[in-house]
Amino acid sequence: MEIVFHKESKIFHLFNQSISYIIAVLPDGHIGQLYFGGRIHDRADFSYLLELAPRDMASYPFTGDRTFSRGHVKQEYAVYGSGDYRYPAVSVLQENGSRLSDFCYESYEIISGKPELRGLPATYSESDSDAETLVLKLYDTLTGVRVFLSYTIFSQFGALARSVRLVNEGSVSVYIERAMSVCLDLPDHDYDWIQFSGAWARERTAYTRKLEFGIQAVNSTRGHSSHEHNPFIILKRPVTDEFHGEAIGFSLVYSGNFLAQAEVESHGTTRFLMGIEPFNFQWKLEPGEEFQTPECVVVYTSEGLNKMSQSFHRLYQTHLIRGYWRDRPRPILINNWEATYFDFTEEKLLRIAGKAKECGIELFVLDDGWFGSRCSSRSGLGDWYANRERLPDGIKGLAEKMENLGMRFGLWFEPEMVNEDSELYRAHPDWILHTPGRSCCHGRYQYVLDFARPEVVDYIYDRMYQLLKDSHISYIKWDMNRSITECYSIEFPPDRQGEIFHRYILGVYNLYERLISAFPHILFESCASGGARFDAGLLYYAPQGWASDNTDAVCRLGIQYGTSYCYPISSIGNHVSASPNHQLGRSTPLWTRANVAYFGTFGYELDLEKISEEEKEIIRKQVAFMKKHRSLLQFGLFYRLKSPFEGNVTAWMTVSDDGREALVGWYRVLNEANGPFTRLRLAGLNAEQYYEICDVMPSDSYFGPSGQYGDELMNMGLITSDSSCGQFSDGRRQSCDFDSRIFYLKACPERMKDSTC
Ligand code: DGJ
Repeated sequence: MEIVFHKESKIFHLFNQSISYIIAVLPDGHIGQLYFGGRIHDRADFSYLLELAPRDMASYPFTGDRTFSRGHVKQEYAVYGSGDYRYPAVSVLQENGSRLSDFCYESYEIISGKPELRGLPATYSESDSDAETLVLKLYDTLTGVRVFLSYTIFSQFGALARSVRLVNEGSVSVYIERAMSVCLDLPDHDYDWIQFSGAWARERTAYTRKLEFGIQAVNSTRGHSSHEHNPFIILKRPVTDEFHGEAIGFSLVYSGNFLAQAEVESHGTTRFLMGIEPFNFQWKLEPGEEFQTPECVVVYTSEGLNKMSQSFHRLYQTHLIRGYWRDRPRPILINNWEATYFDFTEEKLLRIAGKAKECGIELFVLDDGWFGSRCSSRSGLGDWYANRERLPDGIKGLAEKMENLGMRFGLWFEPEMVNEDSELYRAHPDWILHTPGRSCCHGRYQYVLDFARPEVVDYIYDRMYQLLKDSHISYIKWDMNRSITECYSIEFPPDRQGEIFHRYILGVYNLYERLISAFPHILFESCASGGARFDAGLLYYAPQGWASDNTDAVCRLGIQYGTSYCYPISSIGNHVSASPNHQLGRSTPLWTRANVAYFGTFGYELDLEKISEEEKEIIRKQVAFMKKHRSLLQFGLFYRLKSPFEGNVTAWMTVSDDGREALVGWYRVLNEANGPFTRLRLAGLNAEQYYEICDVMPSDSYFGPSGQYGDELMNMGLITSDSSCGQFSDGRRQSCDFDSRIFYLKACPERMKDSTC
């Protein structure tokens, strides 16, 4: 990994073993983009990449040289209004009403490691040798606004982290109207754009479309990153698949309103922008103040989408997720939400916990309904003290009782919200986000607390701190069940109202930071009506997130598959729930519910008092299986093999770092009569290694040999034929709808090749 500055040509080259990123000081003093892609040799001058030619009828030369126009060169942090008609990266409204800026290169700094972004989540370096950062300083003389463009390159990953800081060194205030985290001009538009979109209970479905002339974009204006669109985009070559070809992934490390946009201009280049959504955003920068954008992590690969995802997974597992739980296998939990909803007593909870303990489950999570007058979604939110009618000995007492049962104890909070029918609201009706004189939408009977105000965040912190200090709590589920409406904070002046969405999310980050500093051993799981805030920003605070409120195993295939494109498997919260499923009414086998949920952080969310002894025995086996393999399942190298978005069969696998162990998940939605014999080509194995194969969950349906070499498994494939092919009736397990299997592969000496598992 190196960052080189070629003084003569004024060119910067950032490179490591897999990528090169080349930028230049342009003839007009701005910063231009010359190349981003696979690693190339360094050389003193790359200015041959500058695309200079007269286009007299369509360009506006800036320097007097008719071959150079801002509209036609590729830029690093573009402004609008001086010959470039594409959407800009930055726009600053000035005292005289102008939005024109001229950010010219001044100087640079190369820093070992990676500086923190104050108040914002960001990737980090652990040593001076695992990352290096280039900071380019630009200056607009007229306004005195200085821009710091920051680029971190990591030694082990084909990844760059980019962010921007603006400082007003002038004598009058200015207003930032847009400040993107990344602006990347690409030389062509031969790309497919993949977005991860959906809605509540169907988050992060992959949608692919070809880039076309004009603008294509996704965003969130809801105050959180949203169910609707995830702040993660892939641009891939049309031929790129999971194992081959170029792809660039863009992941915004941010949980609020965002914009991701690609603009193909008429000469076929592509400008990609990603950052805080400029709509409804305006930030006043007084003299001496600064504004820090969130970070955008950009990963390039020429080896297909799996490689891109693996880079994100490894980078986020080791350089974004922090703290005690970062590398630790996560506890197997039971959550009472779908078991009881609001209808529970302490005895009921303890009975469920007792059953869970018998199954080997490690952590009991008490969900919504334990506090204040909360007996339904209509009341109590904001009153963070135990409801003594339900929990006579409070949270402290319940936590102790759980501990006596041998269970760890976790608790649900929704810190950002308040019901109108609550003591908190009655005491502080002005603490909610609301626009004066306008009526206020509720969402699930709740309002959003004004987290832009430090005193509101302080209050919630104090309440949570007291509770956590007094009781033994090892896990928190942090929920957020509505989007923001009527976004306005009465504490801020009119010309700062454009800051509230961002200030709100800074308040959320602040609360998280204080809590994890005070309670470093608590495992946080983020949640927002399921997966409305499943983003890289929250991974910095909460190592895992509840992927969706939809716990149906078939829907989960798509949700987890889509989530895996960016986010580590260890971060994806999955639970086995009841059948018929509460969201869809679909009945699926217990083994399939678990076989899907294993690939992530694993738990149960059903009433264990309502299951049969036989099911309990199965759950016991599932828990034992998960305990045995959870490091591999959560931290192995993950490969997507067959997409649920493309067919009846989904498959994925995870391989240990040394290649000696693997688990393959195979899922078929609808059964087939007299279907084909099938094989599944695996990946990531050691070609020379002989692997013993066990059909583990459930067993008795494997048609293949007891072992194969890695090259056989990767080229010919694992035999996945089952009793759906031909007319088998030889005693093997009958296949069915919503069927699935887990195969365990373990390296073993060839002499054992006839062994059975
Ligand atoms: C939405 C979450 O996603 C659910 O898991 C549950 O915690 C409910 N909120 C509780 O209100």
